[in-house]
Amino acid sequence: MTRTTAPHAEQGLASPSPSRGEGWGGGETPATLAHWLNGASAKLQAALNLTRREARLEAQCLAAHGLKVARAWLIAHDDHCLSPRQYEDLQGLLQRRLDGEPIAYILGRRAFYDLELVVTPAVLIPRPETELLVEAALARLSPKTPCRILDLGTGSGAIALALAYQRPQAQVTAVDRCAQALAVARANAQRLSLNNVRFLQSNWYAGLDAERFDLIVANPPYVAEDDPHLRQGDLRFEPPEALRAGPDGLADIRAIVASAPEHLRPGGWLLLEHGHDQATACQALLTAAGFETIFTLADLAGLPRVSGGRWPARVAT
Ligand SMILES: C[S@@+](CC[C@H](N)C(=O)[O-])C[C@H]1O[C@@H](n2cnc3c(N)ncnc32)[C@H](O)[C@@H]1O
Repeated sequence: MTRTTAPHAEQGLASPSPSRGEGWGGGETPATLAHWLNGASAKLQAALNLTRREARLEAQCLAAHGLKVARAWLIAHDDHCLSPRQYEDLQGLLQRRLDGEPIAYILGRRAFYDLELVVTPAVLIPRPETELLVEAALARLSPKTPCRILDLGTGSGAIALALAYQRPQAQVTAVDRCAQALAVARANAQRLSLNNVRFLQSNWYAGLDAERFDLIVANPPYVAEDDPHLRQGDLRFEPPEALRAGPDGLADIRAIVASAPEHLRPGGWLLLEHGHDQATACQALLTAAGFETIFTLADLAGLPRVSGGRWPARVAT
């Protein structure tokens, strides 16, 4: 990568020595952190249509990541003079973000339900709306009673690990068809010392034999194959197999609902995240499969996002 002249130099400001790393070459003067943050925030705001606050936060996250310091450090050291190497590194991170790469992939992590998860391009970036699915699951799990939970399409492990953390007495099975995604989920469990989760590579229920669970949760792929959103924003960088689900986006939800009765204990719950316009179809699938107490919950934006139902405690004969 070619070195870019520091904004400091462009503005004809004084040129303090770099605090660490190698020195600046002749004719260039170093940038302070404050200058870099201001310049980066302005570029991010303009290029990504962010608010000023969001852009500032992203610039700080990139700087903290590039300099391997806490964000609080940046605030106390905004007069820090960047070495040429540091400046180049931060410019490289900034350019990736300006090119549209999701900040979570650049930083390699994302917060989800009190946990910090490592994320790579092999996994979907956990979304705030998926926390609603975790809430709905926790509301149906006693904090004291041991139980068996199945998370279908675990990705980074977000849902499985949040539930395992909140319900240490539960035994959680996390399934994904993608080996690379499972490796990320497994590494997250190890890093968080969550030992009540097992990982299984499987096409939905195929690897589970006749096992039954008290609760099945899934945030499956639910985007229609020709949905233009797939060519926009973060979705362009996420694994297509985590997003696309047939012509109407319901192919995986259909498969999961259809076989859930074979894997639920009497009185067990099936909870699904779905697209904002799929609640009616989901409820119809749950009804047709024989579920009771069917419900839909809205996310923070007021959009129907999670539906579920209870498998009858006694199946009519
Ligand atoms: C929308 S992502 C959800 C990831 C994670 N649960 C979350 O909420 O962030 C869907 C996941 O389902 C997995 N998947 C897709 N088809 C599958 C299948 N047939 N069997 C098992 N997993 C599948 C994908 O690999 C992906 O990790």
